[in-house]
Amino acid sequence: MNPSDALTARPEVHGFFDPGTWTVTYVVHAPQGRACAVIDSVLDYDPKSGRTSTTSADKVIDYVRSQGLQVAWILETHAHADHLSAAPYLKAQLGGQIAIGAQITAVQKVFKGVFNLEPDFAVDGRQFDRLLADGESLPLGNLQIQAMSVPGHTPACMAYQVGDAVFVGDTLFMPDVGSARCDFPGGDARALYASVQKILSLPPQTRLFMCHDYPPEGRAVQYETTVAAQRAGNIHLKDGTSEADFVRMRTARDATLSMPVLILPAVQVNIRAGEMPPAETNGVAYLKIPLNAL
Ligand SMILES: [Fe+2]
Repeated sequence: MNPSDALTARPEVHGFFDPGTWTVTYVVHAPQGRACAVIDSVLDYDPKSGRTSTTSADKVIDYVRSQGLQVAWILETHAHADHLSAAPYLKAQLGGQIAIGAQITAVQKVFKGVFNLEPDFAVDGRQFDRLLADGESLPLGNLQIQAMSVPGHTPACMAYQVGDAVFVGDTLFMPDVGSARCDFPGGDARALYASVQKILSLPPQTRLFMCHDYPPEGRAVQYETTVAAQRAGNIHLKDGTSEADFVRMRTARDATLSMPVLILPAVQVNIRAGEMPPAETNGVAYLKIPLNAL
């Protein structure tokens, strides 16, 4: 397949919606191909008990096995603040390599400080198998995954394009929900505006797969739309919305949002590529809550 065919191929996409965190995990593969990628997996975490479980990830594993797929890549669109990643669990069960945007190093530096992590916590991204630069391609059977840097929600955000499908991460949500917040450390509404323009400059029929859905009252969960639908009707950023108007709206709205319930547990695990912090002398791993820091 030549590179232009690779961008028009129509891969199979299967989404798994996690009602606990409103996150969608995707499995993507070529129609006849066995190689697949898993994007944005979820490790269930109960903040009341501090207990993790793998119900969500096991659904993905069952699907991959039942379809006879082979996991090549376990991708993160960014270091999520609303759920813990199940990447290491999936890798142990199914194989594959864990990849994220190379700017994760900037996120690691910030949060190493916020959490006062152990001195030997590396901030060079080595916890991940692969760090991706903007435009870099990964093989997926006879398809390719192309990484597209889309900073704004975080500095390390990547969207992933496979054929006519783009996994947009936290950039846009469904047209009636809008866009991702930009007020986390390293977030930037102006950068998000530019990232969204990149996505919306793709062909109108391009399929866009959301990382989350927060359905308005009365609507069922949805997570697939198109460039054309976003350009026509995204409530935050459609054709004709100026950068200044978007930044004003986004900044005002962000000022009203509280922190996600799982931001503190999630970030400190996700910057370790989903691994737990090292166990203490009693064999138990602990998560930290910095007081009055966020
Ligand atoms: Fe996010």
